[in-house]
Amino acid sequence: MSRLAFVLNGPNLNLLGKRQPHIYGSETLADVEADCRTLAADLCLDLRFHQSNREYEIIDWIHEAREVACGIVINPGAFTHTSVAILDALNAFDGPVIEVHISNVHKREAFRHHSYVSLRADGVIAGLGTQGYGLALRRIAHLTAAAAT
Ligand code: DQA
Repeated sequence: MSRLAFVLNGPNLNLLGKRQPHIYGSETLADVEADCRTLAADLCLDLRFHQSNREYEIIDWIHEAREVACGIVINPGAFTHTSVAILDALNAFDGPVIEVHISNVHKREAFRHHSYVSLRADGVIAGLGTQGYGLALRRIAHLTAAAAT
């Protein structure tokens, strides 16, 4: 079985560390990627880490994941609250999907309380800052190791 995990990031997450640091913290997405790579190596996972501001690119990566990946960690950014297309793509993926939000979306504006992606996600992490990514990767490693035995 593949031990490749995808970590996908949606719009504006390229500005992590610069935009609204009181909400999203001061770590950059490059810092998050570096942390994920270190952890993935410990967990014996290969990693593809992507960010895009374009919905179709995220959908294309999910389609690619269908062919090669054992699990997906996804922070869809604002597409969380709007994108039936990303939900449909994730519904076509068979492995575990963990949804991550850096901020606690439930403590914020009402429009952030609904997630299309949560209709598919096997787990949701919100409000744990960028640590949520590592926890999500640990969960993917756990679920896929269990599936392999
Ligand atoms: C976010 C929360 C979303 O509501 C927001 O649009 C983002 C980031 C988070 O990580 O907390 O861009 O997904």
